[in-house]
Amino acid sequence: MDIREAIRERHSVRQYKDEPIDTDTRKHLEELINETNEEGGLHMQLVCDDPACFDTFLAHYGKFSNAKNYIAVVGKRSIDDLDERGGYYGQRIVLHAQTMGLNTCWVAGTYSKGKCGASVADDERIVCVIAIGYGENNGSVHKSKSKDKVCNIPESDMPDWFKEGLEAALLAPTAINQQRFLITLENGEPVITAKMGPMTQIDLGIVKYNFEAASGHKCR
Ligand SMILES: Cc1cc2nc3c(=O)[nH]c(=O)nc-3n(C[C@H](O)[C@H](O)[C@H](O)COP(=O)(O)O)c2cc1C
Repeated sequence: MDIREAIRERHSVRQYKDEPIDTDTRKHLEELINETNEEGGLHMQLVCDDPACFDTFLAHYGKFSNAKNYIAVVGKRSIDDLDERGGYYGQRIVLHAQTMGLNTCWVAGTYSKGKCGASVADDERIVCVIAIGYGENNGSVHKSKSKDKVCNIPESDMPDWFKEGLEAALLAPTAINQQRFLITLENGEPVITAKMGPMTQIDLGIVKYNFEAASGHKCR
């Protein structure tokens, strides 16, 4: 499975098998997280076998089960765009995890910050966590806005690469499936902006990653 396929196959999974991530896969995932941290200046961490993080009323209400492993998205408070950056680099891990046969769910609300087992220095904060493991199911396709609700370019004027990026952006996970972003072209360069709202900056990073991975074009 390549990254474009992973974009189509990935859906939020909240019910996991009671099965640890196998040793080789875990090693591979940890290497990827380390490389990604170096590139992104973040301190993301894989925490395994720590169900306490999801032992909250909201997690049960949200139907999480056997969620025991997660990637804590952590970074320095001094980073101006920490939420966006966490979204961008976290999504890189989410999509690679999908290619390794793992399922994921971004979680910013229904987990316990207090019980999160990540190491977080005084000058750092947790952006959110990403539940990860072998799903009981593959999740399902989310309801999506139409292209013209997030993009003002007529479809007939879109270059093929832009159309691919836009489609991948609409497949990206966003908090409460809000899809509160706008995509346009400025002098041939794709530009994605977030509307106001809770967690829209994390969403922005995720959406940019999907757009770039599918289109091969860097966005602003
Ligand atoms: C930043 C962010 C935060 C999220 N927080 C939660 C959460 O707290 N609890 C939850 O059950 N799902 C959470 N989600 C998952 C979204 O509900 C889900 O991504 C969205 O409904 C789209 O569905 P999909 O991921 O299957 O495409 C979050 C997603 C994102 C991107």
